[in-house]
Amino acid sequence: MQAVMYSAMSDALRELLRSAKNVVVLTGAGVSAESGVPTFRGGGNTTVWKGMPFDVISSAGMLERDLAAVWEWFNYRRGLLASLKPNPAHEAIASWQDKFSEFALVTQNIDGLHQAAGSRHVIEMHGNIWRARCFDCGTRHDVRELKFDQGVPSCFDCGGHLRPDVVLFGEMLPTGAFERAAAAAQHCELCLVVGTSAVVYPAAALPEIARAAGAYVVEVNPERTPLSDSCDEVITGKAGEILPLLRRD
Ligand code: OAD
Repeated sequence: MQAVMYSAMSDALRELLRSAKNVVVLTGAGVSAESGVPTFRGGGNTTVWKGMPFDVISSAGMLERDLAAVWEWFNYRRGLLASLKPNPAHEAIASWQDKFSEFALVTQNIDGLHQAAGSRHVIEMHGNIWRARCFDCGTRHDVRELKFDQGVPSCFDCGGHLRPDVVLFGEMLPTGAFERAAAAAQHCELCLVVGTSAVVYPAAALPEIARAAGAYVVEVNPERTPLSDSCDEVITGKAGEILPLLRRD
């Protein structure tokens, strides 16, 4: 099984894994799928919660209409995540960070599993589900310290309402996150795109930026995506099985 996958890797990728100095990895929900985190899309399905598509409950409009419902949705998702562990894909990515002169990990995931696997300086495009942020003073808190089960938690510092420190549909990305990711993509030689449906912008623009700047772009995904046709290489399969085979020894 492994030999078949390994032989599916091109000589160009094998050589880049040996020689590249500057590597960017972009991950999406699929990198956490083998840890048990449900993806939003893929396999012909879209996540629905209490009759609402995820992009309705996870939206700026819902934050204004019903902040408690937004908290309930993220409490539910944190409940799903609480006992989950990083998988071999997260571990492989963490092992790469010290093997290339320059390495950037950009994730759309909010689950914190890259950090749990040991990845440092992760560029989080969509925030982190384990953090809350105050509407009034902007202070960030670890949700695990808030000790609330329902309703809307309050800021320890000013008493204002807290919100999940994640990017909702209709909101801007955290200041500087896209700029840092785009700068890394602009300068990399190898860009690995792992477990993303590549439909949510601006994250989906990063492989395009990398390719336009001359990088070799590789997609790892069991399904084809809108990016597949413009990649230099597509490795079809699960991240947890394929990434450990992409080694720089
Ligand atoms: P999606 O759920 O849209 O896509 C998941 C991708 O992972 C699909 O292309 C699957 O084929 C692939 N996949 C599934 N299992 C896999 C595995 N074991 N190994 C590798 N790939 C696998 O997730 P994202 O692209 O991350 O944004 O979604 C982007 C954004 O849409 C999310 O960050 C979130 C969502 O709305 C916000 O909440 C702002």
